[in-house]
Amino acid sequence: MFNHLPAPKKDPILEVMRMFREDPRESKADLGVGVYKDSSGITPVMRAVKQAERKLVESQETKAYTALIGDPAFHDAMIDLLLAGTVDRAGIAAAAATGGTGAVRLGFELIHTANAEATLWISTPTWPNHNAIASEVGLNWKSYRYYDAETGGLDRNGMWEDLRQAKPGDVVLLHGCCHNPTGVDLNADDWAQMAAFLTERGLIPFVDIAYQGFGAGLDEDAAGLRLLASTQERVIIAASAAKNFGLYRERAGISLILCPQDERATVQGTLGVLNRGSISFPPDHGARIVSTILGDEALRADWEAELTEMRERVNGLRRALADALRDACGSDRFGFLAEQRGMFSLLGGTAEQSDRLRDEFGVYIVGGGRVNMAGLTMDSVPIVAKAVAQVL
Ligand code: LMR
Repeated sequence: MFNHLPAPKKDPILEVMRMFREDPRESKADLGVGVYKDSSGITPVMRAVKQAERKLVESQETKAYTALIGDPAFHDAMIDLLLAGTVDRAGIAAAAATGGTGAVRLGFELIHTANAEATLWISTPTWPNHNAIASEVGLNWKSYRYYDAETGGLDRNGMWEDLRQAKPGDVVLLHGCCHNPTGVDLNADDWAQMAAFLTERGLIPFVDIAYQGFGAGLDEDAAGLRLLASTQERVIIAASAAKNFGLYRERAGISLILCPQDERATVQGTLGVLNRGSISFPPDHGARIVSTILGDEALRADWEAELTEMRERVNGLRRALADALRDACGSDRFGFLAEQRGMFSLLGGTAEQSDRLRDEFGVYIVGGGRVNMAGLTMDSVPIVAKAVAQVL
């Protein structure tokens, strides 16, 4: 039986993570998997998370099951964080998921259950797991152009040209902020144009927001999502608390579906049924940490302060790398890095060049040239810039 199994596909990001861990060299830089690291190379447990965990240990009296859709306090806290009152709560169905990835999967499964004919439009490039999950769920999906490698900016003409092929009822996958892997986000005009376009064409937006707070700020990063939420009849949202709460391994994520109020009960029930068929009950510990922090004024203030420090550190490293590359290359070829947002940017180059960076210089990036700025340190910036200038 198992001898007929096809060889498992390798995930490009997780492969880099594995190879980095297995590399015995002292001097190596992990710019692969999208994880925040501080100046000593540690992914810290955030201060507010530690405190919330202490509070939970003291106060929690049971670990009995919650509900198929998770804890309502987590729903309310995340709805407030993401949407800040832009939508009437009566028009939102919510289900906790196994991290942002689980929320993506839940959203894709919901689309497939509701309309198996719908096509999901995915940006090129995107987080590779988007395509993989869409295929696993059996969704029809197509790509739309998004990134202009020449300018390091948005390929506006390509994007609109491709999206004009979408049919009413199709779903357009958008990154809420800090586009993964390009770091190129829609600006306020693009979001406004997108909202009008979606309405006019009868398309449904699916917003994957995994990095709220890593771009320009918690509210700034959710502005596009909030605009869609206040203008579209239906919006599918997959949100993660992995990065902005540093809760990676706790798998805290949520699927939110904005819909007309008379559809809500069915959508809500379907989310529960879909969870039952895969995980039964979603993980609770990370979700409860999030609602504890967001529901406590002091903890929330401390969390926001630490998240601001993290964002500013990543932005500082981004600028430092752009400057160091200008010096190392003697040109402004990588000047676009400073304009982009979030953890990621694309340096470009071939797979062989990524391999050379790894093998010769111990610099680990994801094939296609994705670098995680948060994996840099002020000490490693000049070393990485020199290596990139030499190889690319
Ligand atoms: C990434 O893009 O590196 C992260 O979202 C981690 C992952 O699961 O791929």
